[in-house]
Amino acid sequence: MSEPLRVVVLISGSGSNLQTLIDGQQAGRLPIDIRAVVSNRADAYGLERARAAGIPTHVLSHRGYADRAHYDADLAALVDEFQPGLVVLAGFMRILTPAFVARYSGRLINIHPSLLPAYRGLRTHERVLADGCGEHGCSVHFVIPELDAGPVIVQARVPVEPNDTPESLHQKVQVQEHRAYPLAVRWIAEGRACLDNGEVRFQRVPDGRPPVIDADTDIDAL
Ligand code: GAR
Repeated sequence: MSEPLRVVVLISGSGSNLQTLIDGQQAGRLPIDIRAVVSNRADAYGLERARAAGIPTHVLSHRGYADRAHYDADLAALVDEFQPGLVVLAGFMRILTPAFVARYSGRLINIHPSLLPAYRGLRTHERVLADGCGEHGCSVHFVIPELDAGPVIVQARVPVEPNDTPESLHQKVQVQEHRAYPLAVRWIAEGRACLDNGEVRFQRVPDGRPPVIDADTDIDAL
């Protein structure tokens, strides 16, 4: 058996995606070892989740920093203490500098609440509703300097129904996020998805390209 993949998770808020990774690790479904959870906000509920799981937590507030470069340099120094093979952005609501992204190239992933390349940026649920889209979802992708533009590992889609609100869409998308993120992390931990020359190279993944899952997909079979 190879060593589990060392992971650092960065959060800013609730940490429900973090929880799915903790659950997957504890249940033996994910060959990962979450070494630390870092938040830029002291009041992030995800810190409680990490503590409850016995995972070391760190708060590095962005307040008081003159610019992103200095914050990101300190963030990288903190993350590097744990020698992660993978840095997981799980609702970490900060734009990262190109230097930070380059430092973790190929081992930095994010989950975004839209079917990228549609709806980069914030307030995705509101914008999807305003445009009358019939479909919405989330994307897990490797991070590149351009915001929400990195190569996609997996997407999950949900239908948009006439009575949906931003909150109902948030709930529906999060249910799928909690399936898509562990799947992508498992593939990376198993060496089945990696960043190669700006593209995701898949092994033993259906069709060898980013799949789009939905509520009916048996992710354990993937
Ligand atoms: C998730 O819905 C994720 O898609 C979003 O933050 C939420 C974090 O939830 N990320 C972004 O919008 C990044 N641009 P969580 O704290 O419960 O995991």
